[in-house]
Amino acid sequence: MVKIAVLVSGGGSNLQSLIDAVESGYIKNGKIELVISNKADAFGLKRAEKHGIKSLFVNPKEFKSPQEYDAHLAKTLNASGINLVCLAGYMKILTKEFIDGFNNPIMNIHPALLPSFGGKGCYGLHVHEKVLEYGAKVTGCTVHFVDYGADTGPIIMQEAVSVSADDTPETLQKKVLVYEHKLYKEAVKLFCEGKIKLEGRIVKISGEN
Ligand code: GRF
Repeated sequence: MVKIAVLVSGGGSNLQSLIDAVESGYIKNGKIELVISNKADAFGLKRAEKHGIKSLFVNPKEFKSPQEYDAHLAKTLNASGINLVCLAGYMKILTKEFIDGFNNPIMNIHPALLPSFGGKGCYGLHVHEKVLEYGAKVTGCTVHFVDYGADTGPIIMQEAVSVSADDTPETLQKKVLVYEHKLYKEAVKLFCEGKIKLEGRIVKISGEN
């Protein structure tokens, strides 16, 4: 059984889709053990509580630096025997202390087709604003492993979404989110089934050519 921790800062609709996927048996070999937030009022924490999942608010103000904060999180996750961390709207860049300190893989979902529209400043509604400003006709979402860079880790899965002439950042965000919910649970399911392997920066999924 893969023990999963989900890190959230906000609404947590991606967290909810993972919770639902576990509860419905879509994700068979995984269990969400822990939800952590850097924001006391993150709705994601309430979602976890509602489903009987241990939830923790870890206050960044109680730590001297982001590095100390991250080292503490990594220690907590290791001590809980977590095998996979899923970032789901976690609005904090992970430092080296987290990435090196946590013993197992970390996944993230990004609301665009990486490597486009990722990195510094590309978060939340800004991503969709940039897609529209650029005039891209296709956008989408990406699930990837986390490395030291911002949105640069190995790509696990992607899904494309068409941009319409009348899209606004808000409508695009809503459209993409629907696909995020499908993609993230699929990636986590495959991970829990042991079907995702990393060769260099290339992700191989068993059963795919
Ligand atoms: C999603 O668009 C996700 O791709 C991004 O942050 C947003 C979080 O939304 N990283 P939610 O909190 O899961 O509803």
